[in-house]
Amino acid sequence: MKILIIDDEKNIRISLTNILEDEGYEVQSYATIKSGLAGLEESDPDVILLDVILPDGNGIEALEEIKKTMPQTPIIMISGNSNISSAVKAIKLGAFDFLEKPLSLPKIKITVKKALDFHALTLKLIRMQADSERAWRMIGQSPVMNELNKLISKVAPSNAKILIYGESGTGKELIARLIHARSSRKDKTFVKFNSAAIPRELVESELFGFEKGAFTGATSRKKGKLEEADGGTLFLDEIGDMELASQAKILRVIQEGEFERVGSNQTHRIDARIIAATNQNLPEMVQKGTFREDLYYRLNVVPIQSPPLRDRTSDIPLLINHFAYDLALELGTRIKVFQPSALQKMQRQSYPGNVRELKNIMERIYLLCDKEILEAEDIQPLLPDAGTATNDAALFWEETASFQDKKREFEIRYLGRQLERFGGNISKTAAALGLQQSNLSRKISELGLK
Ligand SMILES: Nc1ncnc2c1ncn2[C@@H]1O[C@H](COP(=O)(O)OP(=O)(O)OP(=O)(O)O)[C@@H](O)[C@H]1O
Ligand SMILES: [Mg+2]
Repeated sequence: MKILIIDDEKNIRISLTNILEDEGYEVQSYATIKSGLAGLEESDPDVILLDVILPDGNGIEALEEIKKTMPQTPIIMISGNSNISSAVKAIKLGAFDFLEKPLSLPKIKITVKKALDFHALTLKLIRMQADSERAWRMIGQSPVMNELNKLISKVAPSNAKILIYGESGTGKELIARLIHARSSRKDKTFVKFNSAAIPRELVESELFGFEKGAFTGATSRKKGKLEEADGGTLFLDEIGDMELASQAKILRVIQEGEFERVGSNQTHRIDARIIAATNQNLPEMVQKGTFREDLYYRLNVVPIQSPPLRDRTSDIPLLINHFAYDLALELGTRIKVFQPSALQKMQRQSYPGNVRELKNIMERIYLLCDKEILEAEDIQPLLPDAGTATNDAALFWEETASFQDKKREFEIRYLGRQLERFGGNISKTAAALGLQQSNLSRKISELGLK
């Protein structure tokens, strides 16, 4: 930690330097504004101690000057003749604190420590904000993405419920976060609840919270996701995976804004904007009776389609550049440059897992490829279907088998590989391949796939 002192009294400089160095800080001191400002540029301190009356000017003016270039760095003013109005002025101009001479050494130590903690926290916050803004930026200039962007801006400011459809990895969560970020609730929380990601028996206690003693293991009362989202946005991810009993309860929240914690009769009210997402075919589920019709109509006020990557291949180079930059930052390496041949290769690739898959492939390239300038042949071995192409070709030209046998063989290999890609999840695979789930299930048993 670096501390910079500007004070014209030599004794003060010496005693401040001594006590702060004893605390383990690196200290530099200057007797004039001019030399202090020059020192600032070089050392980029974490805290500045600044005297008010200096031989070559006024410390308050220097404060103003420093704030312009280093708005985050805390500045502690120190002054010989205590003067309330200059203290007030300094604080108004953004000074962290104002200490009077004679200086109390314990007070100096405490104030410096506080300023350093504050500075560290501010920097952390700025970094987190930048990270999250960047992490949730929607990249794309294709016509479908431009339309989507317009639609998001149009519906974001209202409180309308939104249902986002789309294959996995297309950016459904990203759309939900953008809607929140462009709404009047943007400074409140965005809470994500994914009913597919937690065991069924925990869905209600996670969502509604519970009272102490509601069930074995409930040793204290806990707020649910709903309460966390009060005033903000509640994102119900994978809503199609919620079981019917929970659907009934969430319907009541949506209709009346009311719910009870598990193990309690007391009714709570909340105000949260609801955005839901699914990669399943909800109308079909309604017909089969696995999704409540009333809930479907409540949620489906504004439907938004998250387009698959194959409908916007012109965005692939933009996405590659975006991820190339992100990954370089994240991994602390230099940015890799994709030459036209490599870009073309990537653009021709098929991405059943959409943007998420593209991102994973980029990560693989960053981790496994040492080159910085990439041509098609450098990335070829790292693409998902590498190595299988030649086998497939051999299979294709085989002379004996009948058409029916070939077709069956193709189906086994193709569906087998696609199922593998989605971890055996039938609904995700069906959605990605544009098949009805029931058709896919039938095929799987017909072909004897596991
Ligand atoms: N247009 C885009 N621009 C930049 N990044 C994107 C874009 N679309 C998706 N991504 C990134 O791809 C990843 C997957 O996006 P997201 O989680 O929003 O998809 P999803 O549709 O919710 O997927 P799943 O169904 O698997 O939950 C995220 O890392 C996201 O930041
Ligand atoms: Mg998602």
